[in-house]
Amino acid sequence: MSEKIRIAIDGPAASGKSTTARLLAQKLGYLYIDTGAMYRAATLAVLKAGINVDDEAAVVRCVRENKISLKISDGILKTFLNGEDVSHLIRTPQINKVISKISSYKGVRKVLIEQQREMAKQGGVVMDGRDIGTVVLPDAELKVFLVAGLKERARRRKLELELQGIELSIEEIEKEIANRDRLDSERDESPLQKAEDARVLDTTNLTVDEQVDIIYGWTQEILKTLREKPAAGDR
Ligand code: CDP
Repeated sequence: MSEKIRIAIDGPAASGKSTTARLLAQKLGYLYIDTGAMYRAATLAVLKAGINVDDEAAVVRCVRENKISLKISDGILKTFLNGEDVSHLIRTPQINKVISKISSYKGVRKVLIEQQREMAKQGGVVMDGRDIGTVVLPDAELKVFLVAGLKERARRRKLELELQGIELSIEEIEKEIANRDRLDSERDESPLQKAEDARVLDTTNLTVDEQVDIIYGWTQEILKTLREKPAAGDR
């Protein structure tokens, strides 16, 4: 039987989760689910509706009423808000500024976590975020917690922003990601936290290919163990 496992990748802002998760999923023929993109689309919906982000009830209502979905198109994961492709609108400084607040609301998380679990039901997924190994998929067969030094994370994020035509100084970016990490770690609901059984991978001095290869290796190890485990009826 060919097993397909669930892989949870968590970690702080700009630690390389999305790139690693996307390439790993491609290599394994698994589905890639970027939960950050879902919180980003939810934040966009709230900003578009002109809702005060401190008004928790209104924010939760808005997220419930808007349809957020992820779809692979031409090999690229796209994010949709009510059927409209918003992938190019969700990685902006405006969204980064308020996203931690919006994603701290229990009602917002409830809506999105339900969808995330539904998408992972069949297995064969690589899901990245902050609470995947701890809350969304606590039974994931492989859990990875990616870390990298703040300076290196800011350098990587600067390159990504430049590709979108957004110019920010390294200092501004460092401040933004450190602040978001603090808010994400301190919240009560699903804080950014390493699952006890997660393997930590420091990517500060690794290339993208190296980090994907390491996690691919861990996946193969787990698949091998699962294949060797005798089925209940064989014992
Ligand atoms: O790419 P980057 O690491 O900057 O962020 P992201 O993964 O796109 O996530 C953006 C924000 O969404 C985070 O700072 C969290 O506030 C929130 N988020 C969350 O609360 N839970 C998740 N599973 C994923 C993201």
